[in-house]
Amino acid sequence: MFDLFIKKLKKDPTIKRHVLKSISWRFIGSIDTVILGWIISGQIGMGLKIGGLELFTKLLFYFIHERIWQKIRFGKLSKSAKADNVRREVAPNLFAYATNITKSDREKLNNHKAFTIWLTGLPASGKSSIAKELETQLHQREYRSYCLDGDNTRLGINSDLSFSDEDRKENIRRVAEICKLFNDSGIIIIASFISPFELDRLNAKKIIGSENFIEVFVDANVETCKQRDKKGLYKLAAQGKLKNFTGVNSPYERPASPDIHLRSDSMNIEMCVNQIINTLSERKLLVYTKAMQLS
Ligand code: ADX
Repeated sequence: MFDLFIKKLKKDPTIKRHVLKSISWRFIGSIDTVILGWIISGQIGMGLKIGGLELFTKLLFYFIHERIWQKIRFGKLSKSAKADNVRREVAPNLFAYATNITKSDREKLNNHKAFTIWLTGLPASGKSSIAKELETQLHQREYRSYCLDGDNTRLGINSDLSFSDEDRKENIRRVAEICKLFNDSGIIIIASFISPFELDRLNAKKIIGSENFIEVFVDANVETCKQRDKKGLYKLAAQGKLKNFTGVNSPYERPASPDIHLRSDSMNIEMCVNQIINTLSERKLLVYTKAMQLS
């Protein structure tokens, strides 16, 4: 249990931040108690004793308080907490099985590897246009590929999801599971999703498998995106008619170290696609498996 927490702590910047913030706040609380004890008693020693005791008893009571509330079934659970409960209940009775034909068998049949090219960026940064052109070029070279796109999946499998942070997280989780299935079936996926949160992208990478996940940052500054704004959504958001719109009233966390960084405000679609294809080739992802066997 403690091991799991430490692992999560190492990977998850939000938890790290949360823990550090709690520690700093507790530290400030104890200093405050020491100062108050000192002022009231007139002795620094007494202030330190009260501060020390307060720290110990507060930690103890906090621990007991958390444990008691965990056992009390009261109040509304968030959608993700409900889903976690269902998972915990159902998972022990499910048994994943392996098929006779493996991913690598399917890759051999298709004559190429299968992986996911994940395009992330602001709305109107050029993700979908790059994805379309990339798919065309891969198709011409006889690679089996398929585009998954935020607007399309939100009109179908994810039509129950809004643009709240929690629903975006679920959107990316579901899409990542779809990418994983497609990759397992031997298909290259080109996924274009705003995917504004680093943590959700990390989760997608974990689900898909880091060896199958190529993160492409489609980086155009927000002013350029606003000028393009083919769908008119930036305008609606600026008028206050669209809530949680990324780049206006909802944040976008830039990828810290993407596999490919495209400056789509200064590069045209062809240049962007070429950069992706060159990087994939350098990483030996666009090799023909039959050619490999022959050589
Ligand atoms: S994500 O943030 O959850 O990854 P996703 O890529 O699926 O978003 O969907 C983005 C598409 O939804 C955009 O291309 C845009 O056309 C449309 N859209 C509608 N409302 C919003 C909004 N509030 N924020 C962002 N995109 C929106």
